Amino acid sequence: MKKSSKILLAAVVTIAVLAIVYRAVNTVPSADKSAAEQLLQILDDGGCAECHSADPEMPFYANWPVAKSLIGKHVEKGYAVFDIAPFEEALETGDAPGEVDLAKVEKTLSDGSMPLAQYYLIHWGSSVTDRKKSIAEAAVRTIRAEYYPNPSAAPEFANEPVRPVPESYPHDPLKAALGELLYHDTRLSADGTVSCATCHGIETAGVDNKRYSEGIGGQFGGVNAPTVYNSCFNFVQFWDGRAATLAEQAGGPPLNPVEMGCQSFDEIIGRLSSDRAFVRKFTAVYPDGLTQETITDAIAEYEKTLITPDSPFDRYLKGDKSAMTAEQIEGYGLFKEYSCATCHAGVNMGGLTFELMGQRDNYFEDRDLTLKSGLTDGDNGRWAQTGEERDRYRFKTPGLRNVALTWPYYHDGSVATLDEAVRKMARFQVGRNIPDEDVQKIESFLDALTGQYQGKPLTNTNQK
Ligand code: HEC
Ligand code: HEC
Ligand code: HEC
Repeated sequence: MKKSSKILLAAVVTIAVLAIVYRAVNTVPSADKSAAEQLLQILDDGGCAECHSADPEMPFYANWPVAKSLIGKHVEKGYAVFDIAPFEEALETGDAPGEVDLAKVEKTLSDGSMPLAQYYLIHWGSSVTDRKKSIAEAAVRTIRAEYYPNPSAAPEFANEPVRPVPESYPHDPLKAALGELLYHDTRLSADGTVSCATCHGIETAGVDNKRYSEGIGGQFGGVNAPTVYNSCFNFVQFWDGRAATLAEQAGGPPLNPVEMGCQSFDEIIGRLSSDRAFVRKFTAVYPDGLTQETITDAIAEYEKTLITPDSPFDRYLKGDKSAMTAEQIEGYGLFKEYSCATCHAGVNMGGLTFELMGQRDNYFEDRDLTLKSGLTDGDNGRWAQTGEERDRYRFKTPGLRNVALTWPYYHDGSVATLDEAVRKMARFQVGRNIPDEDVQKIESFLDALTGQYQGKPLTNTNQK
């Protein structure tokens, strides 16, 4: 035999042996396991936690020369974009897994993008075969149906990553009525000029459509005001999540020096107390009378009424096929295909996690090039609360409900149009430059997210 043929034969035999061993170690979870157990086994075999957790448990050969250089660079990046530990822990303990985590795992396993293909070479049995993929997909569906039941959707949409806005949200109507008054009351500000509605107008889609909001004395804040509509569906409030609840959030603006500028709640209570009629009404519902706690509680109850069900998209999900145009339906398909429906999942299509802004390309560098504005305090995002380096530039994902009415976009309000917001998301979060026609279709789909408030389509009296 010629030398070259010998080498060829050796190579073929080696590959065949490897392929046989590879198949043998790449086992499928047994059918008598629960959905959570099956999914855990696939994630474990896939080595997901090795690149997506704070303290990866590497296989023994991970330190071998080739493996080390292959894995090393991926671990840092992998953990920066996705921490899988809370998800795996929830599956183990039976707690509710995050809706965004479910969507992310489903998406990456379905489209075959994870685990990274180079990794198969060094982590045997990690590749997600068609059989494993269909088991994983079925497991995700079972888990989603268990923790995020979706009875109002049509059967074919009951397991979508996005769920319709419910017709109502539990709240106390008497408290909400008081909250509505307080929400519009300028006595909550030091000079009597600013109310919550100044920056979050009910007729202006819950926003002020300014890059930065203007508070008392013409002062400006450092981040864009998100909408109050549907904020009750957010897991925490503010871009950096510094308020755990709506009531805690409502305690912030009155004392914020550039927003409403009061020294203390006592100052506000002093002003409101001279209004006998108001005190009487208030005490009838809150026997404790006016306190910071009762005032912010009332405002929070009112905010729970600020929800917008029945958007064309929600009617479509509920089975009305004609509620969205053909272009919008295609746009929804692309929204899922381009992974938008991972971070922007759930009822509010966002508001459930903190995400790194610029996970696929440097957003801030690009912004600096075009706007010539350096980094600001507001750009630090979640880091401002935790001081952990991993949290820098990480923001609570905004919900996308009514997004066509809530320009400008992003925490820095730097993006004027929806078109540009979509394009930049694709580039910086998904790592793709998507064609104009796809941007157009997604934008058209986002238009279908405008819901109804008190039975009428939400509008915005501000002009673009
Ligand atoms: C060898 C390291 C490595 C392994 C193993 C790995 N990932 Fe990743 N993962 C990455 C990196 C790096 C990224 C960042 C995007 C990129 O570079 O492709 C990423 C991105 C992701 C994302 C973010 C979404 C996205 O597309 O940006 C999710 C979700 C994810 N991985 C899930 C998984 C799951 C589930 C598994 C196991 C089946 C897994 N990964 C295995 C390295 C890894
Ligand atoms: C001067 C303008 C201004 C005023 C007045 C104001 N806000 Fe805000 N609001 C903002 C800005 C800006 C943010 C974002 C701040 C941040 O994330 O750091 C915000 C955030 C919020 C959020 C969080 C939404 C989310 O998705 O995270 C809610 C809810 C909210 N405001 C409700 C209120 C209420 C209730 C009042 C009255 C007590 C009020 N705001 C007064 C400008 C204002
Ligand atoms: C990795 C998570 C992630 C993915 C994937 C993602 N987004 Fe976002 N999205 C965010 C975060 C975080 C922000 C806020 C960024 C900021 O304020 O700097 C955001 C903001 C937006 C906004 C602006 C909303 C507002 O009120 O300011 C739009 C619109 C949007 N995303 C659409 C999309 C679309 C369309 C896609 C798919 C092409 C997508 N997103 C993919 C996390 C994500």
